[in-house]
Amino acid sequence: MKNMMYSQAYEAAREKARALLSKMTLTEKIGQLSQFGTSIYSDNEQRFEDHFSEGKVGSYLTIKGAGKTNGIQKDLLKATRTPIPALFADDVIHGYRTTFPTPLAQSCSWDPELTRQCNGIAAKEAYRAGLKWTFAPMVDIARDPRWGRIMEGYGEDTYLCSRFAEAAVRGFQGDGDRPGKDHIYACMKHYAAYGACVGGRDYNTADMSPQTLQDVYLPPFRAGVEAGAATVMSAFNDVNGVPATANRYLLKDVLREQFGFRGFVVSDAGAIGELIAHGYAEDGGDAAEKAFNAGVDMVMAGDLYNDTFPALIKEGKIKEEDVDESVFSILTLKYFIGLFDEPYVDPSGEDCFFCPEHRAAARKAGAECAVLLENDGILPLSGVKSVALAGPLSSEEGKHHLLGGWSCSSDSAYTVSIKDGLTAALPGARVDVLPCDRFDGVTEENIEKAAQAAKGYDVIVACVGETAFMSGEAASRSELGLPGLQEKLVLALCATGKPVVCLVSSGRPLVLTGIKDKVNALMMIWQPGTEAGNSVADLLTGRVCPSGRLTASFPYRAGQIPVYYNHTSTGRPALGNWVFESKYRDCQIEPLYPFGYGGSYTNFEFSDISISSDSMSADGCIDVSLTVRNVGSYAGADVVQIYVRDLVGSRVRPVKELKAFEKVFLRPGESKRVKIPLPASRLAFTGVDMKQTVEPGKFFLWVSERSDDERYKFEFEVN
Ligand code: BGC
Repeated sequence: MKNMMYSQAYEAAREKARALLSKMTLTEKIGQLSQFGTSIYSDNEQRFEDHFSEGKVGSYLTIKGAGKTNGIQKDLLKATRTPIPALFADDVIHGYRTTFPTPLAQSCSWDPELTRQCNGIAAKEAYRAGLKWTFAPMVDIARDPRWGRIMEGYGEDTYLCSRFAEAAVRGFQGDGDRPGKDHIYACMKHYAAYGACVGGRDYNTADMSPQTLQDVYLPPFRAGVEAGAATVMSAFNDVNGVPATANRYLLKDVLREQFGFRGFVVSDAGAIGELIAHGYAEDGGDAAEKAFNAGVDMVMAGDLYNDTFPALIKEGKIKEEDVDESVFSILTLKYFIGLFDEPYVDPSGEDCFFCPEHRAAARKAGAECAVLLENDGILPLSGVKSVALAGPLSSEEGKHHLLGGWSCSSDSAYTVSIKDGLTAALPGARVDVLPCDRFDGVTEENIEKAAQAAKGYDVIVACVGETAFMSGEAASRSELGLPGLQEKLVLALCATGKPVVCLVSSGRPLVLTGIKDKVNALMMIWQPGTEAGNSVADLLTGRVCPSGRLTASFPYRAGQIPVYYNHTSTGRPALGNWVFESKYRDCQIEPLYPFGYGGSYTNFEFSDISISSDSMSADGCIDVSLTVRNVGSYAGADVVQIYVRDLVGSRVRPVKELKAFEKVFLRPGESKRVKIPLPASRLAFTGVDMKQTVEPGKFFLWVSERSDDERYKFEFEVN
């Protein structure tokens, strides 16, 4: 894979950076390592003017829009002795203005190319607004849906997340030798293991074996670095007792030495100062010293480096050569993206926001990410003359939440509501919104009213779930049922005897056990973005056949969490043979819906399945071949999922691990021969000696449609 951080263009940028560096004062150098947010600017303009003239500003976050960024850039360049344009950054997480499904939803497409395209559009819109850098993708493995930030990443599986990490980086930065016009820098976050926060409580400790860190949490970062990610963000949490933001092992030994990362590291917002609260640093100076010496090049939001570095250098606690190295990486990236040649953007470029092409991509993505969980045949709807929409996400009010968290730069006025989407898709049909169409309006009284009114319609579509703010940062939950009285609403609608299609919109997996068998169809639409209503209408009317598959297990009960498919083998697996097994006394051990699960309107058959050999060497490869046939009557896509199990290892191995997948689109009756390579290198794991090796021995291999599908099992050996 091409890595632009090793291109000739990058070398040329380095040369220019080196030349500029030699002309800078120490104050100016430290300024390049400092990033500021809007509040500082608006609260104290005088201070900012002083900062400009002294060259104390390297980057901004959350200042956006061509007009604004151009204005600030102009003031900055005019005021400073050594004019160095600022790098404008923002959280462009799942779209900039045109909003796409959340990253977790995107991963359910099992189509990394979709993410590459969405991020390409996001980058273009962001670039046109003067931004050159996004704080995305988040590639934290998340096995705990209590953690609100599970919505920002690509789910619970390391292999899948790694493929999405690469695609996400390439989408933002482009595929060229350098990120030219309409591309922006990616920033992989939150390095590292943020998703492993104990109890799903945000900002909490991550404590795990170093092998789990290497094998489960770090590979997506490595994949992103190899795809050319220019920057990385250090996380808030501590990892095995050392805060990630002062973690030399992670930032230097692993990121730079092991992965070959060449860009720069920015701290998460305020994370350096928080070393004090962690009890890892005494004061600001101590925190700055520890973070910088560990490898955090840029401080997010504030003057900590500006204020403390001169003394730290004087006292010999940090070295000026190291400051030079960090500044050098930042200047290199400023040259590399063409910031010195073109520090401003053309405001007319903002015309592309919400343009038909971008909206069409969002509509397609919204439909591709949904996961059909249940369907008794009611879907796709046909011959329907009247639809009752119920629940807080159905209406004009509710549409704001369909953008999901981290859609800070979007505008929900442009969002298509489910009512509008369905009305347009069902010409001639009556589509009405019943009471309970606001989150604060789901009351006993309104439930009763909605259920009464619903009786007069052919079909009921219940649109329930979370508000946009229930997931995302600082949005941990301890219960994962439908919030408030929404489950009661769904059950009351089911009791009318009318068919009920239940659409669930949320940032995270929810516990849907209470409604699963009561509704006629259940679909996880996540938070689909700007075109939400149209994407949903495409799915409900059969214009698009659902093809999403879950990338995070849905718990049967919150008490099962963490419940993820690729857990390690116990000595007493739940085989159902006796009482002393690893299981619960009060509920099933399996999740409600497993990883990889998802329905369709059509059916697929696998046949002529084979593996090219039943043995390979540690640097070999075997091919899995099969024929996939669409035996139903809708055009649609299936996801072939290849899982393996290492039967005996020098460390206890997972019961199953995804090692390859391929999404196959087929028309009715069509079949396709698929060949999926499985290189032995993917079977490597970290041993007790911390060395990564492919151990010889026997493996099971399953060709599956979901993680618990064991119909097609093979055995092979690595020798
Ligand atoms: C979040 C980051 C984000 C940053 C800047 C922090 O609170 O943890 O993910 O990029 O703010 O908005």
